[in-house]
Amino acid sequence: MTIEIESKTRQQLLSDHVDARMIAVDTDEPVADRNTIVQLDPDHPGFRDQDYRARRNQIAQIAMQYQPGNPIPDAPYTDEEHQVWRAIWQALRPAHQRHACAEYLSSLGQLSFSPDRIPQLREVNQKVQAISGFRLEPVAGLVQPRVFLENLADGVFLCTQYIRHHSTPLYTPEPDVVHEIVGHGVTLASERLAELNRLFGKAVKRTASAEALERLSRVYWFTVEFGVLREGGEVKAYGTGLLSSAGELEEMADAELRPFDLDTASRCEYDPTHFQPVLFCADSFEQMYRMLKEYLTEW
Ligand SMILES: [Fe+2]
Repeated sequence: MTIEIESKTRQQLLSDHVDARMIAVDTDEPVADRNTIVQLDPDHPGFRDQDYRARRNQIAQIAMQYQPGNPIPDAPYTDEEHQVWRAIWQALRPAHQRHACAEYLSSLGQLSFSPDRIPQLREVNQKVQAISGFRLEPVAGLVQPRVFLENLADGVFLCTQYIRHHSTPLYTPEPDVVHEIVGHGVTLASERLAELNRLFGKAVKRTASAEALERLSRVYWFTVEFGVLREGGEVKAYGTGLLSSAGELEEMADAELRPFDLDTASRCEYDPTHFQPVLFCADSFEQMYRMLKEYLTEW
Protein backbone atom coordinates (compact mmCIF):
# COMPACT_ATOMS: atom_id res chain seq x y z
CA MET A 1 0.00 0.00 0.00
CA THR A 2 1.57 3.29 -1.05
CA ILE A 3 0.52 6.36 0.81
CA GLU A 4 1.07 9.80 -0.59
CA ILE A 5 0.24 12.34 2.05
CA GLU A 6 0.22 15.13 -0.48
CA SER A 7 -2.60 13.52 -2.40
CA LYS A 8 -4.84 13.29 0.64
CA THR A 9 -7.22 16.07 1.30
CA ARG A 10 -6.77 18.11 4.44
CA GLN A 11 -10.06 16.79 5.67
CA GLN A 12 -8.78 13.24 5.50
CA LEU A 13 -5.62 14.03 7.38
CA LEU A 14 -6.64 16.55 9.91
CA SER A 15 -8.72 14.48 12.25
CA ASP A 16 -6.45 11.58 12.90
CA HIS A 17 -5.18 13.28 15.99
CA VAL A 18 -8.44 14.41 17.50
CA ASP A 19 -8.76 13.10 20.99
CA ALA A 20 -12.43 13.61 21.66
CA ARG A 21 -11.97 12.76 25.32
CA MET A 22 -10.86 16.33 25.91
CA ILE A 23 -13.76 17.98 24.15
CA ALA A 24 -17.06 17.22 25.85
CA VAL A 25 -16.17 18.82 29.16
CA ASP A 26 -19.03 21.25 29.47
CA THR A 27 -21.81 19.25 27.87
CA ASP A 28 -24.69 17.99 29.95
CA GLU A 29 -24.50 14.51 28.49
CA PRO A 30 -24.52 11.73 31.03
CA VAL A 31 -21.01 10.67 31.98
CA ALA A 32 -19.86 7.77 29.86
CA ASP A 33 -18.27 5.06 31.92
CA ARG A 34 -15.35 2.97 30.77
CA ASN A 35 -17.61 0.37 29.19
CA THR A 36 -19.50 2.68 26.91
CA ILE A 37 -19.37 1.30 23.37
CA VAL A 38 -18.74 3.68 20.51
CA GLN A 39 -21.73 4.04 18.23
CA LEU A 40 -20.41 4.62 14.73
CA ASP A 41 -21.88 7.63 12.96
CA PRO A 42 -23.25 7.08 9.45
CA ASP A 43 -20.28 9.06 8.06
CA HIS A 44 -17.71 6.87 9.88
CA PRO A 45 -15.50 5.14 7.27
CA GLY A 46 -16.42 1.74 8.72
CA PHE A 47 -20.15 2.33 9.08
CA ARG A 48 -21.18 0.07 6.17
CA ASP A 49 -18.55 -2.60 6.75
CA GLN A 50 -20.28 -5.34 8.74
CA ASP A 51 -17.05 -7.29 9.31
CA TYR A 52 -15.36 -4.20 10.73
CA ARG A 53 -18.29 -3.46 13.00
CA ALA A 54 -18.35 -7.04 14.22
CA ARG A 55 -14.63 -6.83 15.00
CA ARG A 56 -15.11 -3.52 16.81
CA ASN A 57 -17.77 -5.16 18.95
CA GLN A 58 -15.50 -8.14 19.61
CA ILE A 59 -12.72 -5.80 20.72
CA ALA A 60 -15.18 -3.86 22.88
CA GLN A 61 -16.07 -7.13 24.59
CA ILE A 62 -12.43 -7.60 25.58
CA ALA A 63 -12.58 -4.28 27.41
CA MET A 64 -15.90 -4.99 29.04
CA GLN A 65 -14.71 -8.31 30.39
CA TYR A 66 -11.29 -7.02 31.38
CA GLN A 67 -10.27 -7.24 35.02
CA PRO A 68 -7.66 -4.60 35.93
CA GLY A 69 -4.27 -6.13 36.60
CA ASN A 70 -4.76 -9.11 34.29
CA PRO A 71 -2.91 -9.43 30.96
CA ILE A 72 -4.94 -7.80 28.18
CA PRO A 73 -6.27 -10.34 25.65
CA ASP A 74 -4.96 -9.78 22.12
CA ALA A 75 -7.22 -7.97 19.67
CA PRO A 76 -8.08 -9.95 16.52
CA TYR A 77 -6.53 -7.60 13.96
CA THR A 78 -6.71 -8.70 10.33
CA ASP A 79 -3.96 -8.59 7.70
CA GLU A 80 -5.70 -5.57 6.20
CA GLU A 81 -5.43 -3.79 9.54
CA HIS A 82 -1.76 -4.64 9.90
CA GLN A 83 -1.37 -3.03 6.46
CA VAL A 84 -2.92 0.12 7.90
CA TRP A 85 -0.27 0.14 10.62
CA ARG A 86 2.43 -0.34 7.96
CA ALA A 87 1.10 2.60 5.95
CA ILE A 88 0.93 4.86 8.98
CA TRP A 89 4.41 3.86 10.06
CA GLN A 90 5.75 4.61 6.59
CA ALA A 91 4.38 8.15 6.86
CA LEU A 92 5.32 8.66 10.51
CA ARG A 93 8.89 7.40 10.54
CA PRO A 94 10.41 10.29 8.54
CA ALA A 95 8.10 12.81 10.24
CA HIS A 96 9.29 11.64 13.66
CA GLN A 97 12.93 11.99 12.65
CA ARG A 98 12.32 15.57 11.57
CA HIS A 99 9.89 16.79 14.20
CA ALA A 100 9.90 14.69 17.39
CA CYS A 101 11.74 15.83 20.51
CA ALA A 102 14.66 13.80 21.84
CA GLU A 103 12.73 12.50 24.87
CA TYR A 104 10.07 11.00 22.58
CA LEU A 105 12.61 9.45 20.19
CA SER A 106 14.39 7.87 23.13
CA SER A 107 11.17 6.29 24.43
CA LEU A 108 10.18 5.21 20.94
CA GLY A 109 13.48 3.38 20.66
CA GLN A 110 12.85 1.59 23.94
CA LEU A 111 9.45 0.31 22.81
CA SER A 112 10.89 -0.88 19.46
CA PHE A 113 7.64 -1.43 17.58
CA SER A 114 7.57 -3.65 14.54
CA PRO A 115 6.83 -1.61 11.41
CA ASP A 116 4.83 -4.57 10.10
CA ARG A 117 2.17 -5.29 12.68
CA ILE A 118 0.04 -3.51 15.24
CA PRO A 119 1.51 -4.08 18.69
CA GLN A 120 -0.85 -5.63 21.20
CA LEU A 121 -1.59 -3.60 24.34
CA ARG A 122 -0.30 -6.54 26.38
CA GLU A 123 3.16 -6.17 24.82
CA VAL A 124 3.25 -2.39 25.14
CA ASN A 125 2.18 -2.65 28.76
CA GLN A 126 5.07 -4.93 29.69
CA LYS A 127 7.60 -2.35 28.57
CA VAL A 128 5.80 0.81 29.71
CA GLN A 129 5.10 -0.60 33.17
CA ALA A 130 8.74 -1.56 33.65
CA ILE A 131 9.83 2.00 32.81
CA SER A 132 7.27 4.26 34.50
CA GLY A 133 4.80 2.05 36.35
CA PHE A 134 2.01 3.27 34.05
CA ARG A 135 -0.32 0.68 32.61
CA LEU A 136 -2.76 0.74 29.74
CA GLU A 137 -6.21 -0.64 30.42
CA PRO A 138 -8.60 -1.33 27.55
CA VAL A 139 -11.84 0.62 27.29
CA ALA A 140 -14.71 -0.14 24.97
CA GLY A 141 -14.92 3.40 23.70
CA LEU A 142 -14.31 6.99 24.64
CA VAL A 143 -14.75 8.07 28.22
CA GLN A 144 -15.58 11.49 29.57
CA PRO A 145 -12.66 13.82 30.35
CA ARG A 146 -13.00 13.55 34.12
CA VAL A 147 -13.00 9.73 34.06
CA PHE A 148 -10.10 9.67 31.62
CA LEU A 149 -7.99 12.26 33.46
CA GLU A 150 -8.62 11.00 37.00
CA ASN A 151 -7.39 7.54 36.07
CA LEU A 152 -4.03 9.07 35.19
CA ALA A 153 -3.55 9.86 38.88
CA ASP A 154 -3.33 6.12 39.54
CA GLY A 155 -0.98 5.47 36.66
CA VAL A 156 -3.76 4.07 34.49
CA PHE A 157 -4.24 5.10 30.88
CA LEU A 158 -7.69 4.11 29.61
CA CYS A 159 -6.89 2.91 26.14
CA THR A 160 -8.91 2.12 23.03
CA GLN A 161 -7.84 -1.05 21.26
CA TYR A 162 -9.59 -0.86 17.87
CA ILE A 163 -7.84 0.48 14.78
CA ARG A 164 -9.25 2.88 12.21
CA HIS A 165 -10.99 1.51 9.11
CA HIS A 166 -8.60 0.20 6.47
CA SER A 167 -10.11 2.38 3.74
CA THR A 168 -8.66 5.52 5.37
CA PRO A 169 -5.23 4.66 6.81
CA LEU A 170 -4.34 8.28 7.50
CA TYR A 171 -7.67 9.35 8.87
CA THR A 172 -9.72 8.40 11.87
CA PRO A 173 -12.55 10.39 13.40
CA GLU A 174 -11.72 9.07 16.86
CA PRO A 175 -8.60 8.19 18.82
CA ASP A 176 -7.69 4.62 17.88
CA VAL A 177 -4.96 2.24 18.96
CA VAL A 178 -2.45 4.10 16.77
CA HIS A 179 -2.99 7.39 18.58
CA GLU A 180 -2.99 5.57 21.91
CA ILE A 181 0.20 3.61 21.38
CA VAL A 182 2.30 5.83 19.11
CA GLY A 183 1.20 8.94 20.99
CA HIS A 184 0.40 8.19 24.60
CA GLY A 185 2.05 4.77 24.98
CA VAL A 186 5.42 6.11 23.90
CA THR A 187 5.26 9.23 26.06
CA LEU A 188 4.25 7.13 29.06
CA ALA A 189 7.50 5.22 28.53
CA SER A 190 9.29 8.44 29.55
CA GLU A 191 9.51 8.75 33.32
CA ARG A 192 9.18 12.52 33.22
CA LEU A 193 6.23 12.61 30.84
CA ALA A 194 4.53 9.82 32.78
CA GLU A 195 4.99 11.86 35.97
CA LEU A 196 3.30 14.86 34.34
CA ASN A 197 0.37 12.64 33.33
CA ARG A 198 -0.02 11.49 36.92
CA LEU A 199 0.06 15.08 38.12
CA PHE A 200 -2.71 15.96 35.66
CA GLY A 201 -4.83 13.21 37.17
CA LYS A 202 -4.14 14.37 40.71
CA ALA A 203 -4.92 18.01 39.84
CA VAL A 204 -8.20 16.99 38.23
CA LYS A 205 -9.12 14.98 41.33
CA ARG A 206 -8.75 18.16 43.37
CA THR A 207 -11.14 20.10 41.16
CA ALA A 208 -14.86 20.22 41.76
CA SER A 209 -16.15 22.78 39.28
CA ALA A 210 -16.79 22.23 35.60
CA GLU A 211 -14.86 25.43 34.91
CA ALA A 212 -11.73 24.16 36.66
CA LEU A 213 -11.97 20.84 34.82
CA GLU A 214 -12.30 22.65 31.52
CA ARG A 215 -9.23 24.77 32.20
CA LEU A 216 -7.14 21.72 33.11
CA SER A 217 -8.42 19.92 30.02
CA ARG A 218 -7.22 22.82 27.88
CA VAL A 219 -3.80 22.71 29.49
CA TYR A 220 -3.73 18.96 28.81
CA TRP A 221 -4.68 19.70 25.19
CA PHE A 222 -1.94 22.29 24.69
CA THR A 223 0.76 20.20 26.40
CA VAL A 224 0.22 16.42 26.46
CA GLU A 225 -1.72 16.47 23.18
CA PHE A 226 -0.22 19.39 21.26
CA GLY A 227 2.89 20.53 23.11
CA VAL A 228 6.00 21.75 21.29
CA LEU A 229 9.38 22.90 22.54
CA ARG A 230 12.69 24.22 21.26
CA GLU A 231 15.59 21.88 20.88
CA GLY A 232 18.83 22.64 19.06
CA GLY A 233 17.32 25.75 17.52
CA GLU A 234 14.31 23.90 16.11
CA VAL A 235 10.71 23.42 17.18
CA LYS A 236 10.05 19.81 18.16
CA ALA A 237 6.92 17.99 19.26
CA TYR A 238 6.26 16.23 22.55
CA GLY A 239 2.45 16.23 22.16
CA THR A 240 0.76 12.91 21.44
CA GLY A 241 -1.73 14.39 18.97
CA LEU A 242 1.14 15.71 16.89
CA LEU A 243 3.33 12.64 17.23
CA SER A 244 0.63 10.19 16.10
CA SER A 245 -0.20 12.13 12.93
CA ALA A 246 2.21 12.68 10.04
CA GLY A 247 -0.13 15.33 8.66
CA GLU A 248 -0.21 17.24 11.94
CA LEU A 249 3.60 17.04 12.30
CA GLU A 250 4.09 18.53 8.85
CA GLU A 251 1.60 21.34 9.54
CA MET A 252 3.35 22.28 12.77
CA ALA A 253 5.66 24.62 10.87
CA ASP A 254 2.71 26.86 9.96
CA ALA A 255 1.35 27.19 13.49
CA GLU A 256 1.52 30.43 15.46
CA LEU A 257 3.85 29.75 18.38
CA ARG A 258 2.98 31.39 21.67
CA PRO A 259 5.13 31.60 24.81
CA PHE A 260 4.75 28.73 27.27
CA ASP A 261 2.25 30.40 29.57
CA LEU A 262 -0.01 27.76 31.09
CA ASP A 263 -2.50 30.14 32.60
CA THR A 264 -3.05 31.65 29.15
CA ALA A 265 -3.32 28.15 27.65
CA SER A 266 -5.97 27.25 30.23
CA ARG A 267 -8.15 30.04 28.85
CA CYS A 268 -7.40 29.51 25.17
CA GLU A 269 -10.18 28.12 22.99
CA TYR A 270 -9.31 25.55 20.34
CA ASP A 271 -11.06 23.95 17.43
CA PRO A 272 -10.36 20.22 17.28
CA THR A 273 -11.62 19.85 13.71
CA HIS A 274 -8.66 21.66 12.12
CA PHE A 275 -4.93 21.40 12.20
CA GLN A 276 -3.98 23.33 15.29
CA PRO A 277 -3.15 26.93 14.27
CA VAL A 278 -1.87 27.91 17.74
CA LEU A 279 0.73 25.99 19.75
CA PHE A 280 2.35 26.88 23.07
CA CYS A 281 6.10 26.47 22.76
CA ALA A 282 8.48 25.90 25.69
CA ASP A 283 12.10 27.04 25.48
CA SER A 284 13.31 23.52 26.29
CA PHE A 285 12.11 20.13 27.55
CA GLU A 286 13.43 21.03 30.98
CA GLN A 287 11.49 24.30 31.09
CA MET A 288 8.29 22.55 29.99
CA TYR A 289 8.75 19.82 32.59
CA ARG A 290 9.51 22.25 35.42
CA MET A 291 6.76 24.76 34.66
CA LEU A 292 4.05 22.18 34.00
CA LYS A 293 4.96 20.24 37.13
CA GLU A 294 4.79 23.41 39.21
CA TYR A 295 1.51 24.48 37.63
CA LEU A 296 -0.17 21.12 38.23
CA THR A 297 1.17 20.74 41.75
CA GLU A 298 -0.15 24.14 42.76
CA TRP A 299 -3.56 23.65 41.19
FE1 LIG B 1 -4.80 11.66 23.09
